[in-house]
Amino acid sequence: MLVLGIETSCDETSAAVVDCGKRILSNVIASQIKIHGRYFGVVPELASRAHIENVNWVIEKALKQAGIGTDLGKISVVAYTRGPGLAGSLLVGQLAAQTFSYLLGKPLVGVNHLEGHLYAVLLEHDGIEPPYLGLIVSGGHTELVIVENFGKYKYLGGTRDDAAGEVFDKVSKLLNLGYPGGPIIDKLAKKGNKVAIKFPRPYMRGTWDFSFSGLKTAVINYVKNAYVENVKLKINDICASFQQAVIDTLLEKTFSASKKYSLKKIVLGGGVIANSALRTQFLKKAGIEKTKAFLPSPQLCTDNAAMIACAGYYKMKIKGFSKKENIQKIDPNLKLINW
Ligand code: KG4
Ligand code: ZN
Repeated sequence: MLVLGIETSCDETSAAVVDCGKRILSNVIASQIKIHGRYFGVVPELASRAHIENVNWVIEKALKQAGIGTDLGKISVVAYTRGPGLAGSLLVGQLAAQTFSYLLGKPLVGVNHLEGHLYAVLLEHDGIEPPYLGLIVSGGHTELVIVENFGKYKYLGGTRDDAAGEVFDKVSKLLNLGYPGGPIIDKLAKKGNKVAIKFPRPYMRGTWDFSFSGLKTAVINYVKNAYVENVKLKINDICASFQQAVIDTLLEKTFSASKKYSLKKIVLGGGVIANSALRTQFLKKAGIEKTKAFLPSPQLCTDNAAMIACAGYYKMKIKGFSKKENIQKIDPNLKLINW
C-alpha cells in the first residue's frame, strides 16, 4: 500500500512515498535554512511563502523518485501533517494533500506532527511492538508519552516553556554561532569539556514535565558575567557543558519513567535526537538499564514526510490495532492523548 506523505509544519517542505509504513521509495526534503538563517530562527511569513514555492516540485520529485511519475492511481492514501506547527505553513501542505486526495478519490489522513516523529523508527527497525515509552525532542516540543498501542497514547509530561531544540537554537544565537543551533553546538561540543561549566539540570522532580528556560538563562548569565569580568569565552566548553545539561535531564527523566511504568522499550524521535552525544549516551544507558532504545537515523530524526506517510499508514489500519483486547493497560489514571 503506497502512501504519499506531505510535511510542511515548519521550515522544511517534504514529500515522500512509503510502502506499507516501511519501505521508503522517496523522501524529498527542501530546507529553508538559507532563508531563516540570518534571523536565527524561523520567520513564519517567509516559511509559508517558501512552502508555496516548493510544494509542487517537491511532490513531483518524490513521485518521480518513487517510480510513480504521473501514474497517480498507484497511490492508495494521502497523509499530511495536520499540526502542531505554523498555521500558514500547515495550510500549504494540507491544501496540497486535500487536492491530491480529492482528485484521486483516495483517503486523506491528517497526522499529528509529534505522532509522526514517533513513527520514524518503524521505517528502519522491525518488530517494535507497543507498549513502549516515547520521547519526542524537537524545536517546539519535549514530550514523554506511553504508546499503549499504535494510535493509543497516554500523556506523561511535556514542555512547560522552551523546548530542548529551541534552547539549542537560542544558545547558538546568543553565542552568534548560526542557525539551526543544534547541529552547530553538537559539532563544537565535541571539541569542548562537558564538565567545564556547572549548568543546572532542570529535573522537575515529581512531574514528567520539562522546563529548559532556566538552563537557557543560566547560559545567558554565564556569558554576561564573563563579559563583565573580562574572561575570554571558551565557546566549545560552553557548548559541551550546556549540551550535557540537556542530555542529563532527558536521560534522567526518560529512564525514571521507563522504570516507573516497567517499559523496557524506549522509542525516540525529533530533531534533537540527531545529537551525536545524546545518541551515544542514550544507547549506553539503555545497555546498563537492560532496556532497548530505538533511535531513527539522524536524517529521519529531523522533519521529513516519510515519517508522516508511515504514521498515516498505521492510522489507516488503526481500527485493527485498537481492538480492545490488543491494548495493554499501563495506568488507567493517565490522560489519553487525542492525536
Ligand atoms: O524535529 P525538528 O526537525 O523540527 C521540529 O519539529 O521542531 O527539530 C528541529 C530542532 C531544532 O531546534 C534543531 O536545532 C534541533 O532540532 N537539532 C539538533 C540537532 N539537529 C537538529 N539539536 C541537537 N543536536 C543536533 N545534532
Ligand atoms: Zn518536527
